[in-house]
Amino acid sequence: MTTTLIKNGTIVTGSDIYPADLLIARGCIASITPHGALDDRGAEVIDATDRMVMPGGIDAHTHLDMPFMGTTSSDDFETGTRAAAFGGTTCLIDFVIPQKGKPMREALGQWQAKAEGKAIFDYGFHMCIVEWTEDTQAELDSMVREGITSFKLFTDYPGVFLIDDGAIFRALRWARDHGALIQVHAVNGSATAVLIEEAAALGKLDPVYHGLCRPARLEGESTSRMVDLAEVAEAPVYIVHLTCAEALKAVREGRRRGVRVYAETCPHYLYLNHDDMDRPDFEGAKYICNPPIRPAWHADELWRGLRSGDLQTVATDHCPFNFKGQKEMGRGDFRKIPNGLPGVETRVPLMYKGVVDGRINLSRFVELVSTNPAKLFGLYPRKGAVVVGADADLVLWNPDKVTDLSAECLHMRVDHSIYEGATVQGGVDKVLVRGKVVVDGDQFLGQPGEGRYLRRGPIDPARV
Ligand code: URP
Ligand code: ZN
Ligand code: ZN
Repeated sequence: MTTTLIKNGTIVTGSDIYPADLLIARGCIASITPHGALDDRGAEVIDATDRMVMPGGIDAHTHLDMPFMGTTSSDDFETGTRAAAFGGTTCLIDFVIPQKGKPMREALGQWQAKAEGKAIFDYGFHMCIVEWTEDTQAELDSMVREGITSFKLFTDYPGVFLIDDGAIFRALRWARDHGALIQVHAVNGSATAVLIEEAAALGKLDPVYHGLCRPARLEGESTSRMVDLAEVAEAPVYIVHLTCAEALKAVREGRRRGVRVYAETCPHYLYLNHDDMDRPDFEGAKYICNPPIRPAWHADELWRGLRSGDLQTVATDHCPFNFKGQKEMGRGDFRKIPNGLPGVETRVPLMYKGVVDGRINLSRFVELVSTNPAKLFGLYPRKGAVVVGADADLVLWNPDKVTDLSAECLHMRVDHSIYEGATVQGGVDKVLVRGKVVVDGDQFLGQPGEGRYLRRGPIDPARV
């Protein structure tokens, strides 16, 4: 049996920072010992001097190979997981989106086919609920048997994904009794649709109007409503891609009342701002996502939420579209710009920048990018932890490396970077997936198809 010994590193977890060696056997962490305590004969040795050894990042919000707004997100499960690994992520959870009138099982089969033979690391699925019919509860029961224990609903995208509050309430009630977690894309899409209609009638069709027609108050309103529904349903709820102070306030107030509300934000809401949508020459289209990027002061509030614990995770909502041929579909009409940004590769480096900038501490960084998503989505301690028995999904992080976030230095299959020209301090040295080195400096050593589907168990969000 080949064993691997990671020597002389500093283990950094969501709770502790300490020097230790790690022995890996059969893809799992077999022992954690003081430096030099283990005989390294027979083991493949990796020297981690001056490296942090942390659990691999877990991205709980991606859209790989997803048909959306008349096109398909440009990364598939091979290119997306490969790029993610280069950025220190070793596990992701993607959203399965059924078509109305079609069974969830059919959509699950489609997403399994997209991932199998392609993913380079382990992945799970969330299921979207886009309608509520007499069959829905039985379908949800069967999804739990397939290892899907989190379900996303939308108060947005009228006529496409939007579902009424009654259905959301039913879903919350069902989830409460089945160890499942309801996720909500909470933006009042019925109201934004009117603002969009009004803007279009006045010929206001540049990309920036995408943002102006989606005011933060309407995200706050919808988030507040979801927190209230969860409170009455006595169920936990998870708000995806939270962007603004108004929505954070609703989450904070709910948590103070004892509502089990959890929320994620994304790096683009922390580092970009509303003005990016107003860039000349239609460049603003590169920054169109939903909910939109807010004025800069919201980001300070989000950082505060990350520090205080009112926000528990940072995911990417990775949903890349090329500028050429995809974002360009909306030239002259922002309503046709496919919504979504690339981010799966830049999340961990950008969150480490939060440490460098003194906004969060090291353990909080690990919690936000790895441990908390594992806990919230039923993967802990197999993932998101450095403990004996956990999968050896590990990142050797070089705090002194400079990571360039320009498109030509990144690996995502998209023709631009939303951080073009920027560099950050800190970056990946090596990445291991179930004990095997898949990234070593600039070299990719992984294999498409080595990633396995993760059947997730009941969710106990109270762990966070
Ligand atoms: O702009 C975004 N977020 N696109 C992906 C779909 C979604 O709402 O998460
Ligand atoms: Zn969404
Ligand atoms: Zn999304």
